Amino acid sequence: MVRLMKKCGALLALPVTIRSCSEDDCQSLQSIEAACFDTEEHAIVDRIEDSRKTAGKGRRGPFFVATFVDVAIVAMDGEELVAGYCAWTCEPFGTSDTCIHVMNLAVAEKFRRSGVASALLKHVEETALEKFPCAALARLLVRSDNIVAQQMYASFGFSEIERIPEYYGSLDALELRKALDLPKRGKLRKRKG
Ligand SMILES: CC(C)(COP(=O)(O)OP(=O)(O)OC[C@H]1O[C@@H](n2cnc3c(N)ncnc32)[C@H](O)[C@@H]1OP(=O)(O)O)[C@@H](O)C(=O)NCCC(=O)NCCS
Repeated sequence: MVRLMKKCGALLALPVTIRSCSEDDCQSLQSIEAACFDTEEHAIVDRIEDSRKTAGKGRRGPFFVATFVDVAIVAMDGEELVAGYCAWTCEPFGTSDTCIHVMNLAVAEKFRRSGVASALLKHVEETALEKFPCAALARLLVRSDNIVAQQMYASFGFSEIERIPEYYGSLDALELRKALDLPKRGKLRKRKG
């Protein structure tokens, strides 16, 4: 469990727990998605369906792909609220490598700037290191005008690799990557064994 430590205001020291998404979270995730992204697409519904189909184990042949949807839960005024989510996959990369692809990440406005996205990304990285020790990097695409998300990913160690012109209609996409931490991988293995 991670503690939200906003320097002032109502979010001081609220506990945040990360867990896998359940069917019951679907509506909350859709509301966060609708508030965060100006699109008719309901990507998160598809991700939840993919994660249900692969059940965290992965679909095989011709390519191994596993989809996960993690949610951040905050306890507030005696209620458990969904503060944000991260959908990610483990998928092939190039001809022989495997990578972690962060597909969707969003935090409800009232919980922003309190470390929720960072807690989700940390959880994804730790889970990936445990489940997919062969994955050497994490990657994602971000809109070129989404400066807040770019700053957040930079604070988490992602760097820009490539600009993909007009990937989002008239807007470019930036591909960001982060090498997954090999020393940490060793420690996790030791802890488990
Ligand atoms: C981008 C987003 C996920 C960040 O979530 P968050 O929970 O507020 O992020 P965190 O609190 O974990 O922030 C971690 C770091 O990112 C950077 N950051 C986050 N929000 C920032 C902002 N508004 N301005 C500048 N830097 C910011 C800071 O370095 C921050 O660390 P700090 O608070 O110690 O300075 C959230 O703003 C969001 O949901 N936006 C809409 C959806 C979206 O753009 N998703 C990403 C699509 S690729």
